[in-house]
Formats: sequence, structure tokens, C-alpha cells
Amino acid sequence: MPVEIIDQQDLPVPRSWLRKKLEEALLFLGIPEKEATFILLDDFQITLYNQQYLGRPYPTNVISFSQREGPFAAIQPHLLGDALLSVETARREAKEYNLPFRHYLLALAIHGLLHLLGHEHETSPVAAQLMVKKELKLLKGLLGVKARKILNFVRRREYMPAKLAVNVDHVATVREARKVNYPDPIHAAVLAELGGAHGIVVHLREDRRHIQDRDVRLLREIVKTKLVLEMAATEEMIKLAKEIRPDQVTLVPERRQEITTEGGLKVKGRTAKVREVVEELKEAGLKVSIFIDPDPEQLKAAAKTGADVVELHTGHYAEAKGPEEMELEFARLEEAARIARDLGFEVHAGHGLHYENITPVAAIPEIEEFSIGHAIVARAIMIGMKEAVREMLCLIERAR
Ligand code: PXP
Repeated sequence: MPVEIIDQQDLPVPRSWLRKKLEEALLFLGIPEKEATFILLDDFQITLYNQQYLGRPYPTNVISFSQREGPFAAIQPHLLGDALLSVETARREAKEYNLPFRHYLLALAIHGLLHLLGHEHETSPVAAQLMVKKELKLLKGLLGVKARKILNFVRRREYMPAKLAVNVDHVATVREARKVNYPDPIHAAVLAELGGAHGIVVHLREDRRHIQDRDVRLLREIVKTKLVLEMAATEEMIKLAKEIRPDQVTLVPERRQEITTEGGLKVKGRTAKVREVVEELKEAGLKVSIFIDPDPEQLKAAAKTGADVVELHTGHYAEAKGPEEMELEFARLEEAARIARDLGFEVHAGHGLHYENITPVAAIPEIEEFSIGHAIVARAIMIGMKEAVREMLCLIERAR
């Protein structure tokens, strides 16, 4: 039998399922003739091994003893060795990370198996990345892409939390409601940065309903992180962007009658036109992002424009009615993020995100940055800008 499971502890474990999955893993790896033993222990038992062989007097989730390195490697090359798993730790950690226990146990066993095959994540960051990639490939093959929680969990170890760029348009909305000189989006930007924002975003609209030219110019002077200018791809705006030189330009569609941006930029069918604008901005030395629906066709078209970044439109996810629609829109976002990353884009996301819906999207590992405005400004009215930004950052950081 290529996989043997020896159970020396008392908690219930799906042993035959685990054995079957691990045998499939050997098949996936192209080594069905190899043999590995998985020994299931409790915390007390694994602590003895951890102490004796690794000098660590505490429980751990998995320890591997590879036979490739020992004196028997040449004598019995088909034997990979033994992986010890603490079911007690696995249970505790699965609960803590909110993961299905059997998926987490399998992930630990796969991790142990890769150690038996000579993978060693502690030797270098590159080795760690290679190991995670292999783990992901195996888990996806064994559980299917629907095992999203465990796949994201494993993937997350590879990634940093996403950044947060704060859109201060609606501070200007309040000011423009009375055509006075307060509240000032410049003050809001300073406080947002002090609260930890990684960037400040403004949308200079054609009708100047909130942000004014003066705001963008002053922000260019005072923003310490990075300034993102959202704008329509019009001659007037391109000229302004080239003059003011924000750190990033995000191209968005714009309709005068809309309350807020309603959808992503349509790139498919207009690739040449969009490429022309992207090229002009890039030639001026500006980083260019395209705000786009989470649609593979649009993404493929965007890849032909030369844009550096795509910002995935999260509005459909945010406005979904009921859990089923939300699940569907979330799946679209996840897939689009993966495709965008594979196409070589830096992946951002935004629109309609708030404190109650951010957590699942913030766990999508490919998304590097969020652009959030309305919800933060709304909360800032109640609790102050710095605190509102901090709370959002906390949710984003905790999601991975
Ligand atoms: N990203 C883009 C491209 C936007 O147009 C907007 C709205 O101005 C946002 C993000 C922020 O959306 P919200 O204000 O709903 O957070």
C-alpha cells in the first residue's frame, strides 16, 4: 500500500478519505510506486518528537522524517519516510482559522509529504514559494477549486495584506453642497495618511461636482504616500494629468447623469482607442490603471493596452441582492483577480466596498490594493478620519 496511516490518538479522523487523497497525491506527483507513512498523534506525543529531534519543547502540527536522507535511502528508494501529524493541533488550528478540518488536515499532510520529497520552506524565500505553489497545485487537484477557504489560506502565506488607498471625493461633496471652503479634502487626505492609508484617490469629474482642480494641485503638493487621479479618457483630463503628474492615473468611464461610476471601462471593441490614451500617459511617465468589470473578455482586451494596473469593479459584488448573487459575484471577482494576475497586471479593486463586505474580497490573494471612499468618509463623519481609516485597514489586514 503506497500510503499507510497509523492512528495513535483518540480524536475522530477521516482516515480512509485521507489515505485515498494522499495516494491520489502520489499519482498526481507521478510517483505512485513510492510509499509514505503518516502517523497521527496527539499534542503530548508530537511534543516528544519535536523536543527530541528539533529541540522544540512544544506541540506542532506536522514533522517529517524523510528517508531520502537516511542510511536506508539507497537500500529502499521507494520509501519516502514518515510524516507525523498532531490531530489535536490540526483541530485547534482549523477552528482558529475557520477552515474545514478535513481540508486542513489534508493540507498539513500534503505539506509533510512535500517535506518527505525534499522540499524545505525554511531554507529561503524562493524555496518557500516553490513549496506553497506545489501545495496549492496538489490541493486544487485533490479538492477542486471550490475548496476556496483552504486554497486561499495556503496561498495567503505567500502574500502581504492588500494596501488601502482612500478616496476623499465625498469630503468635497459636502463642501460643494454649500459652495463654501470646508470641509477640505486636503485636511481629510492628511488625516487619512496619518491613519495609515497607503494612497489618496480623487476623481476629477468633467462637471467638477465634488473635487476641483485646486484640490488635485494641492494634493499633489501635500500627499506623502501616493496620489491617484481617477479620470475619464478625455483630452482635457489627459492634459491635466500630464501637467499635475499624479503617481497613478485610473481611467474610468464617466456619464454626467450618474450618481457614481456605474461600471468598468469598456475596453473590448475599443482596444486601439484605449491603448492610444494609455500610451500617451505612459510616455509622459505616468503609471496607468484601468477600472474594469471582473470579466475575462475585458481583461484580455485590457492586456493589449499596455496598462500597468487593472482595478476590478467590485460594485456588482457590493450591490448583490441576497447571498446567492453575492456568492456568484464574489466568484467572478476571484476568477478575474487570478486571470488579471496571470496576464501580468498589478491587481487593485474598488467601488461600493464597506466595513461589512470587505473581508471576503480582502482575502483574495491577488488583490494588492483597494480604493475605498464613500464608506470611509461616511464613518469619518461619526468617528473621525484617522479612526475610520484604521478600522478599514484592520479588517483588510485580518482577512489574510
Ligand atoms: N474606484 C473607482 C474607479 C471609483 O470610481 C470609485 C468611486 O469614485 C471608487 C473606487 C470608490 O468607490 P466608493 O466610494 O464606493 O468606495
